[in-house]
Amino acid sequence: DKGPYPYYMLKEIDEQPNVMRKLASLYTEESGKPNVDSQLINAMKEADRLYIVGAGTSYHAGLVGKKLFEKLAHVPTEVHIASEFAYDNPLLSKKPFFIFLSQSGETADSREVLVNVNANNYESLTITNVENSTLFREATYTMLLHAGPEISVASTKAYTAQIGVEAILAKALGEAKEQTIAEEFDIRQQLGLVATGMQAIIDEKDVIDDLAKKYFVPANRAFYIGRGIDQTVSLESALKLKEISYVQAEGFASGELKHGTIALIEEGTPVVGIITQKRTANLTRSNLQETESRGAATFTIVRKGLAEEDDTLIIPDVNELITPLLSVVPAQLIAYYTSLNKGLDVDRPRNLAKSVTVE
Ligand code: M6R
Repeated sequence: DKGPYPYYMLKEIDEQPNVMRKLASLYTEESGKPNVDSQLINAMKEADRLYIVGAGTSYHAGLVGKKLFEKLAHVPTEVHIASEFAYDNPLLSKKPFFIFLSQSGETADSREVLVNVNANNYESLTITNVENSTLFREATYTMLLHAGPEISVASTKAYTAQIGVEAILAKALGEAKEQTIAEEFDIRQQLGLVATGMQAIIDEKDVIDDLAKKYFVPANRAFYIGRGIDQTVSLESALKLKEISYVQAEGFASGELKHGTIALIEEGTPVVGIITQKRTANLTRSNLQETESRGAATFTIVRKGLAEEDDTLIIPDVNELITPLLSVVPAQLIAYYTSLNKGLDVDRPRNLAKSVTVE
């Protein structure tokens, strides 16, 4: 039931703060310690490399997961598009461990990979929103997203819940491996900050509605740019815009733009800079400037601690490892309002199904 909401997507965006609180209370203890299956952590600890597999938005959540597992647990991590992995037979390490990310747990491309993983007797974890789904049943270990049903075709709360679960898991694994950075990372407190921060962004939705009308409704194409973890969010932000507003959008590593793609910038092309990382903030700012001097209509999504006077959307501060949980929310709302203002069916975009059960 949509209740007072015109579309499920807006309802699901709004539910995100509560999902974060729920994950904190279910998967961490009051002391801040992760509350995760110890057998799972032992299995992951034995692995020399993690392989994350997913499609679409779940793949994008995996890209964030790679940063978390590598930084907090110091374990090399690869992220694979399920449909590619299934037929490409990538070279595996001696002791691989597989993590399947899937909101529905039914994505055929991911299922195909898991069938092969099981045939080779490798251990796996499925992180999904749907209990008893195929990927849930067929993996060695499971963790639920507890996000509640996601109805809108455009995935929102599943993406943030996947990142939340990955962060908890990376912390647990990092602690098991006695990594100081993991011991000092207070995920429970951070998820609380994220919940409050998400709410603050959602409360500004009218501002985002205006930005959507001004920048995106008239546009044929648009870009999101960022570096590092911000680049991964730029991919997800572009996907959201494409699938429900039909604006051709690309997410880009901001330093890569000048190596070719900047040729596409015309007068008024929207370019959004995502800036949450101290080390790269100024670099992305100058890349944004490069597009502006070629006519782009630019604006910024910036973490508060890095904000400057003419920044557009300022998001609250959280630990730099989990900024995607906040920086994606304005992008979700931009996609929503662009679609809405164009009079499109936000929840049921053309050519798409909620769950892709064919390869
Ligand atoms: O159910 P899954 O997470 O496995 O689905 C994967 C993709 O099909 C899904 O994320 C898709 O990209 C969404 N429509 C994106 O919003």
